[in-house]
Amino acid sequence: AEIEADAASYDRTGHDHFMAKEIHEQPAAVERALRGRLDARFHTAHLGGLNLDPREARAIRRVKVIGCGSAYYSGRIGAQLIEELARIPADAEPASEFRYRNPVVEPDTLYIAVSQSGETYDTLAAVQELRRKGGRVLGLVNVVGSAIARECDGGVYLHAGPEISVASTKTFTSTCVVFGLIALHLGRIRDLSPADGRRIADGLRALPGQIREILAQEDRIAELARKLSAAPGAFYVGRVRGYPVAREGAQKLKEIAYLHAEAYPASELKHGPLALVGPGLPTVAVLPDDDLLGKNQATLGEIRARRGPVIAVAHTAPDPRVTEDVVLVPRSEPELDPILLGVPLQLLAYHAALALGHDIDKPRNLAKSVTVE
Ligand code: AGP
Repeated sequence: AEIEADAASYDRTGHDHFMAKEIHEQPAAVERALRGRLDARFHTAHLGGLNLDPREARAIRRVKVIGCGSAYYSGRIGAQLIEELARIPADAEPASEFRYRNPVVEPDTLYIAVSQSGETYDTLAAVQELRRKGGRVLGLVNVVGSAIARECDGGVYLHAGPEISVASTKTFTSTCVVFGLIALHLGRIRDLSPADGRRIADGLRALPGQIREILAQEDRIAELARKLSAAPGAFYVGRVRGYPVAREGAQKLKEIAYLHAEAYPASELKHGPLALVGPGLPTVAVLPDDDLLGKNQATLGEIRARRGPVIAVAHTAPDPRVTEDVVLVPRSEPELDPILLGVPLQLLAYHAALALGHDIDKPRNLAKSVTVE
């Protein structure tokens, strides 16, 4: 049965493209990422492969995530989760930048390398450099036994199953979920209360069903994508938790729809990019109902004043005078919201690329895994 299941992974089974299939596999992929890892008694996560005892986990002073492309963007979401839940200063950096700038490697920093394939050269080289300098590196990898998985001190597999489409979707989401588990685990060893631990664990458990709710809106998202595909490009904006979501959304649109898309922290618009906003340039806004909603609405007001079209991915519909082009996303726990807000942006890029007639699974100039410098 295992061999049959594996063979099915290499078949589009009812979908026109692997990307569509992989987007729809996300509820199951997330279930696999969570399976056996949540502890209902102590409201924490068990991740055997981390190879960190509680004392070592408490001694971590900083977390640095490295990866390339979408793996890096997922790392931005992961760093945010770790900082919020475990209260450890955390950030992410492209692995290529990290390895070329002769970074200071500190013994009390935990390094996390993210890679779907486990073979990306820049990420592998950064891991090797870190190990040479005595850094402790965990791998967050999908392909079991891959080069990066082998080089690391420990790690967590995604168990997302094979991802064939060049554009990563299910592995992006699964990576964010695994970061949620790591943040919960580190948080519960440090200062995250049992009540908050339970809140996050329940939030993680609810994700597969909530992703299904988003996928059920595909027809509506496809309609918005057709509009988007007629534009020369788009801005993607978000604040704090929403910003890395916007970056990944813009990456997907560039990668497969070949439309120029640029992500900005929403507050940065008025420091330059607003000069480009007008009827010809749409903005995709990531609009969670968090404590920054008012600020985000103000940004939408600025865009509207310049008659810029807006597509909002939101928990509640914004003022219809700003836009009626809204995809409503179910609420998670605020820290986990980025995981769900990213899903409609995958479908948006997919359907824009479909409307433009592109080769979705094999976009021009790109390879699934970049194993050269
Ligand atoms: C994702 O859609 C891209 N194809 C690309 O950015 C990718 O995430 C990157 O090349 C890293 O790949 P990896 O996860 O296999 O290391």
